[in-house]
Amino acid sequence: MKEKVENILDEIKSFKAQTQDELEQYRMKFISKKSVIGELFGEMKNIPNEEKKAFGMQINTLKEAAQSKFKALIAGLEQSKDSAADNDHEDLTLPSAGNSLGAVHPLTYVRNEIIRIFERIGFNVSDGPEIEDDWHNFTALNFPENHPAREMQDTFFIEKNPDMLLRTHTSNVQTRLMNSGKPPFRSIMPGRVYRNEAISARAHCVFHQVEGIYVDKEVSFVDLKQTLYHFAKEMFGKDTEVRYRPSYFPFTEPSAEIDISCQICKGDGCQLCKYTGWVEIAGSGMVDPNVLSNCNIDPEEYTGFAFGMGIERIAQLKFRVNDLRLYTENDVRFLKQFRTLH
Ligand code: DAH
Repeated sequence: MKEKVENILDEIKSFKAQTQDELEQYRMKFISKKSVIGELFGEMKNIPNEEKKAFGMQINTLKEAAQSKFKALIAGLEQSKDSAADNDHEDLTLPSAGNSLGAVHPLTYVRNEIIRIFERIGFNVSDGPEIEDDWHNFTALNFPENHPAREMQDTFFIEKNPDMLLRTHTSNVQTRLMNSGKPPFRSIMPGRVYRNEAISARAHCVFHQVEGIYVDKEVSFVDLKQTLYHFAKEMFGKDTEVRYRPSYFPFTEPSAEIDISCQICKGDGCQLCKYTGWVEIAGSGMVDPNVLSNCNIDPEEYTGFAFGMGIERIAQLKFRVNDLRLYTENDVRFLKQFRTLH
């Protein structure tokens, strides 16, 4: 009897069902009332009493094995049906659907381009926090206590802690960098900045800047001029003219704003350049000795220059984007136009 049970178990194990008919054959042979297992249950009455228990356990195990194999056979058949159905739809002669690739965002492109240009002349990239304390964003940068930029209309302060704010410029990374070690520093610092401005075509409460700083022995205004002259030509082309206009920033002395010849009208005068032929691209200057001292750098030993530019502004001039809001609205008609950039 034991042998009989083992033979049936072997048969169950090796059974294969490729079709519905074969599955039915299996069901008849091993699952139905009239199956071989059913017959074994029928033989129970002929088994001597003392062996009944062991025999019963044996055929129960056999029954369970038959049932779980039955389930597996059903699942196997379903699966092959599905893949057969898939194959029915597949026409291998069709041309492929093609992947629709995204495009680099113009601001990402311009940021990377700025990094590439400065990296080639020995600047590295530094990063700093967007949620900043007053000291790194203002005080260390020589902002007088009552400077209007500290006031509520410009700065987003953190309600729970008025000493904390959303940085209003990337110049905070200057102070973090200079505080973190010893000169020389030659770094650019791209990032997001925040100002409490109403959103319009010309202003936004979130935008991007790239800060730059070079501090070492004997860095002069000539280095500043040549570095940004080089940048403007690399970014906008060899024919671009550059001029420096005296200006004021609390953290630089002397300070200069950097203009380039208008990319739209090439100097003839247009709306963008307000008919002057020039457009501003950056603020800059020699790092104020107070800022160096605030960051524990001896201004007698070291000098440096710094600059800051808006990425949206550079992208506007490069790609003639006349509404700042386009950068953040995710309109694919706008974004698609930059498909060729990388
Ligand atoms: N932080 C200035 C701004 O947000 C830009 C700037 C001007 C940065 C002159 C500088 C600089 O480092 O030297 O408008």
